[in-house]
Amino acid sequence: MTPQQIRETDAQWVLGTYARQPLFLERGEGVWVWDVEGRKYLDLTSGIAVNALGHADPAVVAAIHEQSSRMTHSSNLYYTPFQGRMARILCSHGAFDKAFFCNSGTEANEAAFKFARKFWFAQGSAWRHEIVSFSQSFHGRTYGALAATGQDKMQTGFGPMLPGFVRSDLTVESLRECVGAHTAAVILEPILAEGGVVEPSAEFVAELCVLQKRHGFLLICDEIQTGLGRTGEWFAFPASGLAPDLVTLAKPLGGGLPLGAVLLKGAVAEVIQAGDHGTTFGGNPVAIAAGLAVLDRLEKPGFLEGVRAVASRLRSGLEALSGVGPFLEVRGRGMLLGIRVAVDPNKVIEAAREEGLIIYRAGSDVVRLLPPLVLTAEQADLALAGLAKIAARL
Ligand SMILES: Cc1ncc(COP(=O)(O)O)c(C=O)c1O
Repeated sequence: MTPQQIRETDAQWVLGTYARQPLFLERGEGVWVWDVEGRKYLDLTSGIAVNALGHADPAVVAAIHEQSSRMTHSSNLYYTPFQGRMARILCSHGAFDKAFFCNSGTEANEAAFKFARKFWFAQGSAWRHEIVSFSQSFHGRTYGALAATGQDKMQTGFGPMLPGFVRSDLTVESLRECVGAHTAAVILEPILAEGGVVEPSAEFVAELCVLQKRHGFLLICDEIQTGLGRTGEWFAFPASGLAPDLVTLAKPLGGGLPLGAVLLKGAVAEVIQAGDHGTTFGGNPVAIAAGLAVLDRLEKPGFLEGVRAVASRLRSGLEALSGVGPFLEVRGRGMLLGIRVAVDPNKVIEAAREEGLIIYRAGSDVVRLLPPLVLTAEQADLALAGLAKIAARL
């Protein structure tokens, strides 16, 4: 099909929930993707932080082939060999006790809210049901996750929002006003990725920890975008100084297939009984097998050190470009980087595409880089050379 035919068929038949960029992708290999006319691009977005090992990683492809030829689905009524293994790896790296598997980020957050409320119900404090979240946050598009998402533009037209959700600003004063005896849980991204690659200040985190001790609410860290190597660590929360009771994961977890998870501390896990929550597809054997190939790579000695080294080279290069053309300021950690720009981010994204680079936006004035974790130093230099050309041009 030609780009024109693809665009027309899509426009006629697919609900227009996305303002698609004019990119007609056909295949990928490592950090590279090709469009239907054979043009090659350096993918610095990884399918929005999903393709941690890049495209068509041989270990992920082999795991999908192997598992799909044995069994693609079995349901959660029966045991399968891999869920326990993945749960053990995830829990051991974050000091959690149990994992629950689902299919996406929004579902992971829905489950975390249910587990937090059930925890307080089990203590005889069902009145303690409020979930506090933050302005600029993004937690997903289903009703609970949407109610927690701190962006009016995503909620407009879909009201009323669910009751029991409270939005705080990312400031100490607002936090103090919003949490209290009725707070069941606070949900926070260690880096607010969609909201503009914003890190809560050290002062804010310190106050959150004080209030967590004082009021005893549960802390949910949404690591759907920051987790599993993205910041150069298994999880972003320890470096942020956060001590979550629950962590939500998705994006790279299934090696490109839909998979989400909630990790729970024992005290919360023990109030959840058989029948309390469930999903037909969650923890699907093919997605788990593909995801184990990703986790095996993260566990390889030296892998995360390598990610940190290339990420820091990329960051230094971007910092050198700050002040050039529309590039103002670099934000983020590891391979989750934002550049605040003085023009419409879409202009930068379009110019990047013309240079053969795929980048994405975050918030209203930030362009975001989410390269595959396997990006090499040479590829980082290529990306920087392309971005330097754009900075000079715009
Ligand atoms: C921090 C965060 N939470 C939740 C979600 C929702 O995940 P999903 O699109 O898999 O439902 C996203 C997706 O971008 C995210 O970045």
